[in-house]
Amino acid sequence: MKLHINENHKLSHIEPEVYGHFSEHLGRCIYGGLFVGENKEIANENGMRKDVVDALKAIQIPVLRWPGGNFADEYHWMDGIGPKELRKKMINTHWGGVIEDNSFGTHEYFELCRQLGCKTYVNGNVGSGTVREMSEWVEYMTFNGVSPMAELRKKNGHEEPWVVDYFGVGNENWGCGGNMTADYYGNKYRNYQTYVRNYDGNKPIKKVCCGPNADDYRWTKEILETCYRHPAPAGTHGFMDGFSVHYYVVVNSWEHKGSAKEFSKEEYYRAMRKAVYMDDIITGNDRILSQYDPEKKIAMLVDEWGCWHDVEENTNPGFLYQQNSMRDAQVAGATLNIFNKHSDRVKMGCLAQIVNVLQSVILTEDDKMVLTPTYHIFHMYRFHQDADLLDSYLEGDSKVGIGEDVASNVNESVSVDKDGVLTITLNNIDVDNSAEIEIDLREHDVKNVTGFELAGAMTDYNTFDKPETVKEVAFSDFSFEGKSVKVKMKPCSCVTLRVEMK
Ligand code: AHR
Repeated sequence: MKLHINENHKLSHIEPEVYGHFSEHLGRCIYGGLFVGENKEIANENGMRKDVVDALKAIQIPVLRWPGGNFADEYHWMDGIGPKELRKKMINTHWGGVIEDNSFGTHEYFELCRQLGCKTYVNGNVGSGTVREMSEWVEYMTFNGVSPMAELRKKNGHEEPWVVDYFGVGNENWGCGGNMTADYYGNKYRNYQTYVRNYDGNKPIKKVCCGPNADDYRWTKEILETCYRHPAPAGTHGFMDGFSVHYYVVVNSWEHKGSAKEFSKEEYYRAMRKAVYMDDIITGNDRILSQYDPEKKIAMLVDEWGCWHDVEENTNPGFLYQQNSMRDAQVAGATLNIFNKHSDRVKMGCLAQIVNVLQSVILTEDDKMVLTPTYHIFHMYRFHQDADLLDSYLEGDSKVGIGEDVASNVNESVSVDKDGVLTITLNNIDVDNSAEIEIDLREHDVKNVTGFELAGAMTDYNTFDKPETVKEVAFSDFSFEGKSVKVKMKPCSCVTLRVEMK
């Protein structure tokens, strides 16, 4: 098989946010996972777990979406500000019926993003909140003058406004965010976004409209029709900067998703087929967006994606706690390659969810932490952040799988960074056969190659007792000469090559 690369042909820029993450007040994502508050037993800075923050910095986390998800459309931000002892306690009705004490709120979120050094993405409440509530939250977070909300922020201990990079106007409003019709939400979007004011013209907030559930193209079309059929406000700068898309890989069915740890080859290949369906979803939505926005000014944000398996035994079903295997790593690797290939339109991706929920990069238990196979993929792909996508394609790849559940045996993407170093990410999804790939550059001779690998059986995963069953290691099964690099990949493996050119 050959991988052809035209190193002289840059296609689009890969925004760092493509490698973003999602956090929700759900199970042990915020509480216990990211935030431990006053807990003296677990090392923390201002309540944020040091081990988790350090691990996330190592994958260069670019953006963190918060506070949900479903939770966002029931979140009333004023419950989460002011003295902690006075904050309202309530039942988290969406997720597990546990007490939400609001000890993690707006101030804590911005403190977490400060420690992570990442951009902010706050999701507003359209489902059960008012325009006034949303507009006051934006004022509270970002206004630097004299106003009731700016004064309240200062009274609560934060003199300076924060920077809100992205603001989501609702979440899944076709479903859990209010069960709205597309036309109704489209009008709500027009209305609510008006009051997401840009107080600081130098740091405009990017407003995100709620897009479809995966391939529900009817929703995409109707929303855009409602939003753009009148000249105003559609012609106004900053009306819609982003359009969200959500897609989860559910291996069997929503009722019987299947185990995260024990699964058959059939289920493995079904996950692979469903993972690469992301390509169709992006293409389908992009086609409609391009009717309204041919210049691709509206970014597509796949701000919830990942595998959704059955919860681990003896855990709260509402906590969505699942293990994470080499299969999840392959889903992540293929998905991120697809995002790179669509980086002309896809400007953000948020894996659901960052810690302890769904396809997490990190799992915690009390003071213990383990990095999942998916974490290692994000680490191996970090070189793509802020690089330029290069023109590349595979020749001679073959289909692998069982029955209808087939996909290309190898998937890839290639970028070039500011120093002219190529990053090639390759995944051999075939669990039985190795893959030999000859990589051909068009013009440049190869000077040096460095490799990293993640490999294992499809069901391999890490535990608190055995945290290194699946881990990133140096990769050396390659040779290079002239313009060509020859690589041999193990079955079920992921490889990153960093190629310096002469
Ligand atoms: O990530 C879990 C849930 O999935 C989110 O809260 C919701 O937006 C989606 O349905």
